[in-house]
Amino acid sequence: MKTNNAQGDDLQGLINQVNHSNISTIGSVVTRIIAIINDPDATAKELVEIILTDPPLAANILRLVNSAYCAPKTKIADIQQAVIFIGFEALKELALNQKVCEIFKRSMTINGYSRPRLWKHSVAVALFSKMLYRREFGQRGENAYALGLLHDLGIIIEDQFRNEQFTRSLEMASQKPCPLTDAEREIIGYDHAHIGMALSANWNLPDDIVDGIGYHHNPLEAPEASSDISQVLHIANHYCQQDQIGYCDAPQQDENVFMECCRRLNLESHALALIMQDVQQKITDMEAEGLL
Ligand SMILES: [Fe+2]
Ligand SMILES: [Fe+2]
Repeated sequence: MKTNNAQGDDLQGLINQVNHSNISTIGSVVTRIIAIINDPDATAKELVEIILTDPPLAANILRLVNSAYCAPKTKIADIQQAVIFIGFEALKELALNQKVCEIFKRSMTINGYSRPRLWKHSVAVALFSKMLYRREFGQRGENAYALGLLHDLGIIIEDQFRNEQFTRSLEMASQKPCPLTDAEREIIGYDHAHIGMALSANWNLPDDIVDGIGYHHNPLEAPEASSDISQVLHIANHYCQQDQIGYCDAPQQDENVFMECCRRLNLESHALALIMQDVQQKITDMEAEGLL
């Protein structure tokens, strides 16, 4: 993921701009939640403390825990009760989900793109990646879930801070047609994977999340330590785009890269198709409950 000096300076300027915006405030909470997810000794009390310092997040979590989606028999009145009701693991995922979702608010549609459509895509990719880790590798895959939510974060940054060039990139991608990354590199000088990688590194997120974001469109070039998670993300992205769940940034996907990822990870297409069916169902359920 190399950029030349002028591109590097511009990218650094963009990251500074982001770090003086509301996204940085959200990013610091996201970073703390991901640190808890990565710490095997972390306790539910530490997570509850983070949630309580963010009243809108706490209110959102209580709203969801009390919704038909979780269906408690009696009303859950506070976060301590919520952790007992849904469990520490589920609360980590719910808190991360709700916090990252704050970055994707605001609705405006340009050439098929809108933040809510990108959010729906991101949740589907996160669910697929986590299910793949659990079913095929017997691992929890918590960073795969976080990576799924965050992998296209660079698109939001372009939307918010380079809006005119971003709008032209969307137009070029749909008119040519070509992958959004090609249009971004031509018009902005770098693409959303570069931006997401630089921002997540700046936030000190774990290396596999940083690399997974940076290499989600070219996973075969990812560093060895992050190659599995980058390939899983690419496969998840491929399936969710093929089934047109939410926004799709690469309608013409490179089948060869996808097939090579499946070969290297030893994954069978029927197992992946079953995961996709379950992701579709989960997304439908979440939409029915107003959670997407
Ligand atoms: Fe992407
Ligand atoms: Fe994506």
